[in-house]
Amino acid sequence: MTLNSSSSSSLSLLLLLLSLSVSLNFISSFADISLGSSLSASNLNQSWPSPNSTFSLSFIQRSRNSFIPAITYSGGVPIWTAGSTPVDSSASFQLHSSGTLRLISGSGAIIWDSNTQRLNVTSASLDDSGNLVLLKNGGVSAWSSFDNPTDTIVPSQNFTSDKTLRSGYYSFTLLKSGNLSLKWNDSVVYFNQGLNSTINSTVNSNLTSPILRLQPVGILSISDVSFNTAAIIAYSSDYAEGSDILRFLSLGSDGNLRIFSSARGSGSTTRRWAAVTDQCEVFGYCGNMGICGYNGYNDSSSDPLCECPSQNFEFIDQNDRRKGCRRKVEIDSCPGSATMLELPHTKFLTFQPELSSQVFFVGISACRLNCLVTGSCVASTSLSDGTGLCYLKTPDFVSGFQNPALPSTSYVKVCGPVLPNPSGSLQAEEKSKSWRLKAWIVVVAVLATLMVLVVLEGGLWYWCCRNSPKFVSLSAQYALLEYASGAPVQFSYKELQRSTKGFKDKLGAGGFGAVYRGVLANRTVVAVKQLEGIEQGEKQFRMEVATISSTHHLNLVRLVGFCSEGKHRLLVYEFMKNGSLDNFLFANEEGSGKLLNWQSRFNIALGTARGITYLHEECRDCIVHCDIKPENILLDENYNAKVSDFGLAKLINPKDHRHRTLTSVRGTRGYLAPEWLANLPITSKSDVYSYGMVLLEIVSGRRNFEVSQETNRKKFSLWAYEEFEKGNVKGIVDKSLAGEDVDIEQVMRAMQVSFWCIQEQPSQRPMMGKVVQMLEGITEIEKPPAPKALTEGSVGGTSVNMSSSTSALSTFAASAPAPSSSSSTHTGVSALASDRNIERASSSLLRSSSPN
Ligand SMILES: *[C@@H]1O[C@H](CO)[C@@H](O)[C@H](O)[C@H]1NC(C)=O
Ligand SMILES: *[C@@H]1O[C@H](CO)[C@@H](O)[C@H](O)[C@H]1NC(C)=O
Ligand SMILES: *[C@@H]1O[C@H](CO)[C@@H](O)[C@H](O)[C@H]1NC(C)=O
Ligand SMILES: *[C@@H]1O[C@H](CO)[C@@H](O)[C@H](O)[C@H]1NC(C)=O
Ligand SMILES: *[C@@H]1O[C@H](CO)[C@@H](O)[C@H](O)[C@H]1NC(C)=O
Ligand SMILES: *[C@@H]1O[C@H](CO)[C@@H](O)[C@H](O)[C@H]1NC(C)=O
Ligand SMILES: *[C@@H]1O[C@H](CO)[C@@H](O)[C@H](O)[C@H]1NC(C)=O
Ligand SMILES: *[C@@H]1O[C@H](CO)[C@@H](O)[C@H](O)[C@H]1NC(C)=O
Ligand SMILES: *[C@@H]1O[C@H](CO)[C@@H](O)[C@H](O)[C@H]1NC(C)=O
Ligand SMILES: *[C@@H]1O[C@H](CO)[C@@H](O)[C@H](O)[C@H]1NC(C)=O
Repeated sequence: MTLNSSSSSSLSLLLLLLSLSVSLNFISSFADISLGSSLSASNLNQSWPSPNSTFSLSFIQRSRNSFIPAITYSGGVPIWTAGSTPVDSSASFQLHSSGTLRLISGSGAIIWDSNTQRLNVTSASLDDSGNLVLLKNGGVSAWSSFDNPTDTIVPSQNFTSDKTLRSGYYSFTLLKSGNLSLKWNDSVVYFNQGLNSTINSTVNSNLTSPILRLQPVGILSISDVSFNTAAIIAYSSDYAEGSDILRFLSLGSDGNLRIFSSARGSGSTTRRWAAVTDQCEVFGYCGNMGICGYNGYNDSSSDPLCECPSQNFEFIDQNDRRKGCRRKVEIDSCPGSATMLELPHTKFLTFQPELSSQVFFVGISACRLNCLVTGSCVASTSLSDGTGLCYLKTPDFVSGFQNPALPSTSYVKVCGPVLPNPSGSLQAEEKSKSWRLKAWIVVVAVLATLMVLVVLEGGLWYWCCRNSPKFVSLSAQYALLEYASGAPVQFSYKELQRSTKGFKDKLGAGGFGAVYRGVLANRTVVAVKQLEGIEQGEKQFRMEVATISSTHHLNLVRLVGFCSEGKHRLLVYEFMKNGSLDNFLFANEEGSGKLLNWQSRFNIALGTARGITYLHEECRDCIVHCDIKPENILLDENYNAKVSDFGLAKLINPKDHRHRTLTSVRGTRGYLAPEWLANLPITSKSDVYSYGMVLLEIVSGRRNFEVSQETNRKKFSLWAYEEFEKGNVKGIVDKSLAGEDVDIEQVMRAMQVSFWCIQEQPSQRPMMGKVVQMLEGITEIEKPPAPKALTEGSVGGTSVNMSSSTSALSTFAASAPAPSSSSSTHTGVSALASDRNIERASSSLLRSSSPN
């Protein structure tokens, strides 16, 4: 061959390139590994490279004397390993003559096997995309590493829904629906996302055969025969940047699914995308009972730190904090003295589907108490994000997450005393001490300034007000603030005996037991109710106390504390100076002469309606009062109405419509709605009836069931409607208001509202919220029809007090409009309580009428 060339060197270069590219195309699938070849862990230089050496198969070192055969990208980044069990340097990896790939330890044990003996494998090859293929006669693939991935997917690898990536406890699968799903221990799904609905409407149904692919430029996408184009899941942050870069998707030992990029030959990797944005949201990242957090207040880019909840715990392995924590003293070894450690801004990770017995809608203090009294509960989390969700955690596995921005408080059961971590240990661990010092100086300075201000103001106030008679009651109010922190205070029986001077000063005898005046150690005046006939266990009692005390409203009497000791069950309420409403309305009965003017009466009616509205419609555990009457409406020193005794008789469990277990019919003649007698479901509308009767009494100053000559021997409420029809409003209004300036428009409103409320049909009666609006004059009031039962004259006056002996603190399920039917697991304390009622159904008055 004669060539007329000016530069022989450029020609030889051309030839070289030509031959190289030819050989590349030619060799790529034929870089054979023949049967019987093997690699030894003792010589890391041995390798089976791909044709252009982009990938190679060799032993890599995991740690000292711990090796594993792996396919690595140029530079040493592994993309596949033979199993996950490392071996020592005596091991070897061979393509056995039977056609199977084997990892064999020094002693001859098979550690990993591709199980391809019977597939007539003739050779193996590693191609330039990183796929190790075992070939049959005719170059057909019998097995490939792409079809048996470990924890990584590379471009040109097809990941289908029958495959799984694994790393430790974590696994990743592609669901048939096209969702990416991350699981812990094959059970807890902590990530499940994928196609958004704009791409295809099949989001929640199955695709034909979805395939997940990572394109070399860094696009993670899903394709399916039903798609015209692939649906994009994510872009890597270095999308299409640079050349000679391998991007791969990998499930890390930290449970996160990430896209990495690695430049050829560098051996280093950079994170480009992560499925779980906040690493601490990966379930179990810090092991059982470990708390995940960050070093520094806003540095989620760095790796999280693992801590134990408090010094009541220790790391299982000090050198690997991710292994979790254990109690220094197990709960079992301190029965009765366990307590709850509070962890602010902390959440115990919860993922659906959570057992419904572990999810509640209760207040934060009830969330704490519920766990404390539930034997199987080790920790609880109360979300303070407005949902009121409370999760109880059982000993299985508890994974914690702390972040100053988390609106959530958690509790952990420990054997007392609580030994909290040094403050902010997570954040402060590696921060300089000077920062802490500065913070302290600021805190001390602020506190000192505040104290000086408070002392100054207090002095000034004392100086000008000490002679005022209000001073005493004001100081009592201030003392009460000590108890206003939320949780009910637990008193001992002795303590209450002392504060009531041996239950001497009896204020009255309510439906649930006698009430005594008491003075607490801090000089707060309280009303102590001694409950009678309690059959419940201590735990249930505490749970109901927790619910009652988490119900706060201006027009509800506040529970200060409780006592539960042996047979004794007492409730401690704030003291209402002016006693109950009946003393003012029916003053003439005893001739005591205390009377209220119209404006006070109207305000009391409105306040009472607001309090009941809160119970029915606004608070978390919907409560039907079941015994609304003037005796249960208390007045504070400013004659504000406060409803008392709520939650004692009934709590509503809106979820449980099937079991209408009525353990106790309470209530007082004249105020009981007709459905109590007619064996119909008791709902919040039954309270509306009772309220209507009370309202009529507020207007008239007479008992609604009173029968007299003046009313033509008819019940007063019946007579009043007839007079109202005739237009004789003046005749109904309390005579003792005669000399007063009475707002006749308000009187009319109140009267019409009361007739609406006492309709025989519960559905005719307005909701309590509507009652408030009608009283306020916000809503027009239509002319009320005749309350039907009244014309028959049969119900209102019947004397019903069916159970003075059954449980006072019974709880039953009734149908009522759920104020927020956000979830089917709207249960809370009342759910626990309803089980008890089912147990007791046989001994109680069982109602089984179906809900309307
Ligand atoms: C492996 O190669 C390195 C240099 O590339 C050499 O120094 C070393 O001796 C080799 N090891 C073996 C066991 O051949
Ligand atoms: C392997 O080869 C034998 C004989 O050639 C044949 O009978 C058998 O079906 C082959 N097995 C597979 C899995 O191809
Ligand atoms: C190796 O081969 C692969 C696939 O053919 C190709 O994408 C890559 O650029 C090649 N690398 C080198 C260095 O030739
Ligand atoms: C991946 O799937 C595509 C078709 O969807 C196919 O052409 C390609 O060969 C597959 N790749 C591997 C490595 O199996
Ligand atoms: C993982 O699940 C298995 C079976 O479902 C269970 O036996 C095991 O205790 C779980 N592991 C942990 C750490 O909880
Ligand atoms: C798929 O993920 C979406 C959120 O991206 C979720 O709403 C949906 O329930 C998931 N579907 C399945 C079948 O898990
Ligand atoms: C759904 O995907 C489209 C296109 O990928 C994107 O524009 C849109 O913002 C996504 N919607 C949601 C809710 O993620
Ligand atoms: C989707 O596939 C899964 C498993 O492959 C199956 O359990 C499920 O019932 C299917 N769902 C639908 C809507 O076809
Ligand atoms: C969505 O799925 C349907 C069939 O399930 C298919 O006909 C349609 O083309 C798909 N739409 C897109 C945007 O892929
Ligand atoms: C942390 O910083 C990022 C931006 O730098 C901001 O979006 C985020 O809200 C911050 N988080 C907190 C808890 O301050």
